[in-house]
Parts: sequence; C-alpha cells; structure tokens
Amino acid sequence: MTTATTLRHRHLLGIRDLEPGEIDLILETALAMKEVGARPIKKVPTLRGRTVVNLFFEPSTRTRMSFELAEKRLSADTLGMTTAGSSVVKGETLGDTARTIEAMAPDMIVMRHASSGAPHQLARVCRASIINAGDGTHEHPTQALLDAFTIRERKGTLAGVRVAIIGDLIHSRVLRSNVWLLTKMGASVIACAPATLMPPGLRELGVAVTYDIDEAVKGADVIMMLRVQHERMHGLFLPSAREYFTYFGLTPARMERAAADAIVMHPGPMNRGVEIDSDVADGPWSVILDQVANGVAVRMAVLYLLAGGEGEG
Ligand code: CP
Repeated sequence: MTTATTLRHRHLLGIRDLEPGEIDLILETALAMKEVGARPIKKVPTLRGRTVVNLFFEPSTRTRMSFELAEKRLSADTLGMTTAGSSVVKGETLGDTARTIEAMAPDMIVMRHASSGAPHQLARVCRASIINAGDGTHEHPTQALLDAFTIRERKGTLAGVRVAIIGDLIHSRVLRSNVWLLTKMGASVIACAPATLMPPGLRELGVAVTYDIDEAVKGADVIMMLRVQHERMHGLFLPSAREYFTYFGLTPARMERAAADAIVMHPGPMNRGVEIDSDVADGPWSVILDQVANGVAVRMAVLYLLAGGEGEG
C-alpha cells in the first residue's frame, strides 16, 4: 500500500469511499496533529479565515466537542447549531436549512443526523465540504478513523490485528465504518451479537460472525464493545438488560480468553453493566479515553486535508 498525497474527494461521507492509501494519509497526518496538541500553546494558524459550521441534529458529547476543539486548534472560525436551538423545531426542512446555511458561504459543514444519507443530501446542494459526523445507522467515518489511529498507536499496525466487535451491531454506524476500514487495512474482524441485533451481509464483507461472546473474545488483540442503542429499538430486540449482560457483557473473567496484551475499546457513551462491566471499562485493558483524546487529532487531520492540505503553519 502506498500512502496517498491528497484525498480524492471534497467530502468525507463514509469510509467506504476511501482507498487504503487515503486512510493511511489521514492517520499519518493525525500523528502530526497530535504533536500540536502536546504543545504548551495548542494552536496553529492552518485554517485561519476558513469557516466551519457544526450541525448536530442528534445528541453528541465526544464528536461535537472534539470537532469544535479541532477547528479551534486549527484557527478556523466556527459556528454551531443543534436542533433544539434552531428553526428545525418550527418545522424547517433539512433542504431549506441546508440552503440557508449555504447562503452564508461556509467552507466546511460537519453534520450529524438521525437519517442515514442526510450528509449526502447536503453534499448535493452545498459548495462546502461536508463531513459526516454520524448519519443514522449508516456510517460514522471519523469514529472509525480515530479507532484505527488508537489501534495503530497500541499495536503498531492494523494489518493482521484480530479485532472482535461485539454489541448492538444492527443499529451501529460505528460497526459499519469500522468494518469498511479494518477490512481495507488488512485486519481480521469477528462480529458478535444476539441474533436479533446481528445485521445481514457481514460475511460478504469478509467478517466472521458468531453469536458466542467467548468465541469472539478468544485470542482477540482488540475488543471493541458497542452500545446497546435503546433509542433506535422500536421493537422487542432484547429480553432484558440483565440477560444481555449475562450473555454478551464484557467482564474481567471473559478478558482472560483474549490475547495477553489485548485492548478494550468503546466509542461511548457506555451502558455500564449492560454491554461492559465497570471493572473492564476502567481496567488495565481500557483505551476508551485514549480514543477520545485521539479524536481531536484525527478530526484536525480530516479538516486540514479536506481544506486541500494547505494553509499557514
Ligand atoms: N462516539 C460518539 O459518537 O459519541 P458521541 O455521541 O458522544 O458524539
């Protein structure tokens, strides 16, 4: 694989659209951005004079704050909008909201939306670069990139690393982006969920499938726990949270089956006592807060590269 020198697309809508060399370029650029975050003055003038709009139509702590921090560290002018404080509550459509924001000529728009494909719709009507910050159950590309950065930081490579992804997979945009990324970069992936929460078609993407958490964890280098997304469940997917934890919760006892130097990841927010035991979430295996910290560097890299990889400093 050869590292790309630029990104081929103006937008970051999903990992599916990226080539391995482009993923490598983002991860390498994020390394340099992480160094900026370690300085006493954590700011460079790279995006001075550029305007970035953060549109969050769904709740977010990590993604929204780390994008804002990334934009500020690159000296961009930033504006934020959430559903509650906008004319969306008066019934304004996504199309009209997009055209209104477009009229103010931002350079980039970061968007989270409950509907899969909403950022793609924005990309069709806006001149700005669109960054998908999570769309419905479709993709969450910057989450997969920061996960990959964290795995590379700990394991030195993605190629050949054994990754178990466990949880509510059917509702997970994090799963989808990670499957695209990890398989493109040569990792081996096993997915584990109850039958009601397992999406179809994973085997066709090169992912092994099991319904037994002990099989998934056995020999894993990386265990990625995904949240039970109660807010997206409009039917009876689980008997109870207690039963889910019994059969699919990650506990210290289950960690004994993993590789000796295994790491545990979770994109957050966590349901402690449902998909993960607190002794694992806060234990020696956990890199969950490293993921949060790396999110800033990775989002700086994405903003910088979509701006053309140019700018001051
Ligand atoms: N991982 C993630 O997307 O978290 P937030 O919903 O807090 O942004």
